Amino acid sequence: MTVLTENLTGVDLLAEIARLKKERNAVILAHYYQKPEIQDLADYVGDSLELSKKAAATDADVIAFCGVKFMADTAKILSPQKIVILPDMDAGCSLEDSCPPEKFKAFREAHPDHIALTYINCSTEVKALSDVIVTSSSAETILAQIPLDQKIIFGPDRHLGGYLSRKLGRPMLLWPGVCIVHEAFSETELLKLKAQNPGAPIAAHPECPPAIIDHADYVGSTSGILNFAKTFPGDTLIVATEPHIIHQMEKAIPGKTFIGAPGADGNCNCNICPYMALNTLEKLYVALRDLQPRIEIEEGLRLAAKKSLDRMLEMAAGTVGKGDLGAR
Ligand code: 13P
Ligand code: SF4
Repeated sequence: MTVLTENLTGVDLLAEIARLKKERNAVILAHYYQKPEIQDLADYVGDSLELSKKAAATDADVIAFCGVKFMADTAKILSPQKIVILPDMDAGCSLEDSCPPEKFKAFREAHPDHIALTYINCSTEVKALSDVIVTSSSAETILAQIPLDQKIIFGPDRHLGGYLSRKLGRPMLLWPGVCIVHEAFSETELLKLKAQNPGAPIAAHPECPPAIIDHADYVGSTSGILNFAKTFPGDTLIVATEPHIIHQMEKAIPGKTFIGAPGADGNCNCNICPYMALNTLEKLYVALRDLQPRIEIEEGLRLAAKKSLDRMLEMAAGTVGKGDLGAR
């Protein structure tokens, strides 16, 4: 974790961020799992695919990425001429950590007749070793375009891979990674919550284990879940993904109740992504002021990783919102 040593007492952070944003011609991109105060000042809030597209299309000189490192790396891979800053360079991801490039390379070499379809939650090196990248909102559409007789390695999220395999009846070799946040939901506690709120549907992210997915009325990416929240007919929704997304739901649909799905003790903070939580307004201000910490990627590696990302953008074209994983 980056620890700020300077005293920022007395700095009007919101005013300073707005001033620096203009001065630097910067765009602020934020994922739905960011703290509400960051979501509220961002130019765009979105899921991984939407933010990648924004990063590729922006004409800003600086991209301030309020998310985790693989997302900021993706912005730099797609927009190398821009300065990309991440408020806390230690904002990683358990899925990325689960998939060291040397081990992934060896796994690929052991299965030469397989292609690698890889979740965007991975390092730039793993993207460079992959054939096609997917996000949770584009995975199904992309998988449907791959010939049925083509063998596939899917990594690093075994729950997303398993969900896709089950839904599409398509066997894939799964890398054994998990998201520590979605892994922490408790089926027992979820059923207790459901009993207390009979009739409330459950919306779950496909990074959840099957025991949670099996109870879900809707499974999809963060954007998909948000769309479901805007359209479901009841008044209460149980949300099985990182709870900061509830901020967008409460803003968009103020009359309804959104309850975060519980972890093992029924009331823990274990479903808050500890990596996403490292970004703060203070760190965003310092990053915009100093244009540091900055993402740098060696050009050969960037070009290799860009191939699999470009393939994702081509294959997912026009799918945001409708090519989602959808209802089970
Ligand atoms: P999406 O926003 O693409 O659904 O991804 C969720 C996630 O886990 C980000 O780390
Ligand atoms: Fe990674 Fe899970 Fe955090 Fe998303 S929520 S960044 S998958 S650890």
